[in-house]
Amino acid sequence: MTGTIALPMQAEPLHGPQQARRVGPCTMVILGAGGDLTRRKLIPALLHLLGDGLLPADFAVLGVGRKPMEDARFREDQRPADADAALWEQLAPRLRYFAADLDVPDSFAAIAERVEAIEAERGGERGRLFYLALPPSVYAEAVEGLARSGTLPRRDPGDPRWARVIIEKPFGSSLATAEALNRMVKSHIGEHQVYRIDHYLGKETVQNLLVFRFANSIFEPVWNRHHIHHVQITAAETLGVEHRARYYEEAGVVRDMFQNHLLSLLSLTAMEPPATFRAEAVRDEKAKVLGAVRVDGAVRGQYGPGTLEGEQVPGYREEEGVATDSPVPTYAALRCRVDNWRWDGVPFFLRSGKRLAGRDTEIAVQFHTPPHLMFPLEPGARLSPSVLVFQVQPDEGLSLSFQLKQPGSGVQISSARMDFSYQEAFGGGQRDAYETLLLDCMAGDPMLFLRSDATEAAWRIVDPVIERWEREPPRDFPNYAAGSAGPAAADQLIREAGTTWRSLGAARLRTPAP
Ligand code: BG6
Repeated sequence: MTGTIALPMQAEPLHGPQQARRVGPCTMVILGAGGDLTRRKLIPALLHLLGDGLLPADFAVLGVGRKPMEDARFREDQRPADADAALWEQLAPRLRYFAADLDVPDSFAAIAERVEAIEAERGGERGRLFYLALPPSVYAEAVEGLARSGTLPRRDPGDPRWARVIIEKPFGSSLATAEALNRMVKSHIGEHQVYRIDHYLGKETVQNLLVFRFANSIFEPVWNRHHIHHVQITAAETLGVEHRARYYEEAGVVRDMFQNHLLSLLSLTAMEPPATFRAEAVRDEKAKVLGAVRVDGAVRGQYGPGTLEGEQVPGYREEEGVATDSPVPTYAALRCRVDNWRWDGVPFFLRSGKRLAGRDTEIAVQFHTPPHLMFPLEPGARLSPSVLVFQVQPDEGLSLSFQLKQPGSGVQISSARMDFSYQEAFGGGQRDAYETLLLDCMAGDPMLFLRSDATEAAWRIVDPVIERWEREPPRDFPNYAAGSAGPAAADQLIREAGTTWRSLGAARLRTPAP
């Protein structure tokens, strides 16, 4: 077997009808508006939605933060550096600010008054969207405070005066805390009003998994243990802990990335076909498959100093705000099984880490090699299996690798790959995940948000791993160098299944020469 040939896949740009989203007038209240998330994600997402004509004509934002400041100052702080000036002039006047300390119970009554004042000023019937961009420890108090002040519940789903609450991750820090939070939240508002966000579910390739699996008939027959050898789900980052040490020291990689993002990717890959494209039908299947997942092998890691993209970077324990003997994992690899008929015996390998050699998020579905090979291979050569890769980051797309004959006399087998790139097929029109998710929430579509049962099922999967690791502190940290592919023990974990990790960046989509 010789080198790999890249075959660019021709994609007909499909211009389907724009998903009809009818969003009525609403006020978005961001609790924790002074934080990073508002400036980096929420405001840019609103700006793009406005640019695409998708925000309701009568849309207003009330940012609530601790620091006292005027509306003008808030707007100035929120303005994205690359904002289109004309568009910003349209959004800025809709942004208001209100300083409130959420530790003070009266604050919620004051917020309620501000919301009502905005509604009175604008007139008509409006929805209320509360975005909890807050530290997880105060989610419960925030929902309780909003309910006590009377701004919630507004339970009737058909009422144009709806109220919905977006709750950021992590939702709880264990199964017990997530259950308690769910109980408390549901004592004030209905499940249909709770939008637990996992921004991975708003990513284009992730949503495409559903269409790819269920709008084609050629893949479903092979989507099972008879044809699939294993699945690898990777979310590798080059970034370190940055300025989030306070949060990360409590969370670690399993709570930060696995309980939500990686298990969401697994659930979409492994779930049964829903009968209808309705939120609850899809969410039922996701919850069902998560209920069948068990972890049967786990490796943890923490980065030490190393070289990344030509620069020397410190180890995790040297980062600001991190304990010099921190036992917190910044890397984990889990071997999971899905205990059902379809997936019996098919390992799902999940890995995620900070300060790895490349930024790479992908789902790779590796098929079995043929049971019998009639072609002679060169001594020592092994046949490469066919692999289907959903590339989530950095470039969104798909690639399918398979075997073919190299031209010439005799039979020389080569690997070839067909790449499909969203960028190439559709231009740069992809939305950021937060745009998709904010719009869905305003439209009252919870499909891409986590339901309480799925959240709890995911904690049930990772809790035993977290508990064991917290009980038995690591002896070998740091055990991987920044800029490497992770700890050696992770290689051993996957080798036991007769395979290896895909190298980071392996699926980088290749665009054809012009
Ligand atoms: C967040 C995690 O949810 O996802 C971060 O808290 C992580 O630690 C981020 O860096 C990764 O998101 P993305 O979209 O860059 O892959």
